[in-house]
Amino acid sequence: MTNNSKILVTYVSKSGSTAEIARFIAQQVEQASRAAVDVLPMSEVSSLEPYGAVITGGFLYRFGWHPQAQEFVTQYQAQLKKRKTAFFVAGMGLIKTAECDQSPFPLFLDANFVRQPSRPGHLNALEKQMTLPNYMKDTLPILAEIHPLSVGFFGGKLDMQTLSSVEKMILRVICLLTGAKPGDYRNWDLIQTWAGQVAANLA
Ligand SMILES: Cc1cc2nc3c(=O)[nH]c(=O)nc-3n(C[C@H](O)[C@H](O)[C@H](O)COP(=O)(O)O)c2cc1C
Repeated sequence: MTNNSKILVTYVSKSGSTAEIARFIAQQVEQASRAAVDVLPMSEVSSLEPYGAVITGGFLYRFGWHPQAQEFVTQYQAQLKKRKTAFFVAGMGLIKTAECDQSPFPLFLDANFVRQPSRPGHLNALEKQMTLPNYMKDTLPILAEIHPLSVGFFGGKLDMQTLSSVEKMILRVICLLTGAKPGDYRNWDLIQTWAGQVAANLA
């Protein structure tokens, strides 16, 4: 462990809703821990040296945790292993499979974000894309070695107005296939609970 007491909350966000979650978590952690907390987009982080703890968040993008979030975890894995960490993921839906129950780290799941497969014990092609192992394809083994305090999965916000025409087209197809609908699904009470639990363990 490092001796630094500062905490970093870092995120990747396109339309701003994950950035709002990150700022909210930072506020909660700051209040609970009384430590200094920086909130920065991942693109502005060049070193984890000043920080004793790091909370990393990103949204789901085309059936994966955003590539920038996965790259961040890959790039900083050695430093993350030496620090207290927590991670969060925001999006429209996760299909619950056995991997969630057998996760090598504590998972915190927003019940409104999690769905059961349409046929118990069988995943159709689309559902296979929406599972924990697929979403975290590049990072699951790394996260297992980092031993995070918690990985939170939260409902996000889908605002079609903020998307380019290509993204709107992709999202219309995803919504049609998954039954997801645009809207703000962030559950602030739940995120507050998660942040409080994480803060208590950062102390
Ligand atoms: C191009 C695109 C692809 C997306 N793909 C997924 C996905 O595969 N699974 C999912 O649950 N949500 C998906 N979403 C929904 C976002 O994860 C959700 O809207 C998120 O809260 C957006 O965060 P932001 O406001 O920080 O950009 C996608 C959104 C966009 C724009």
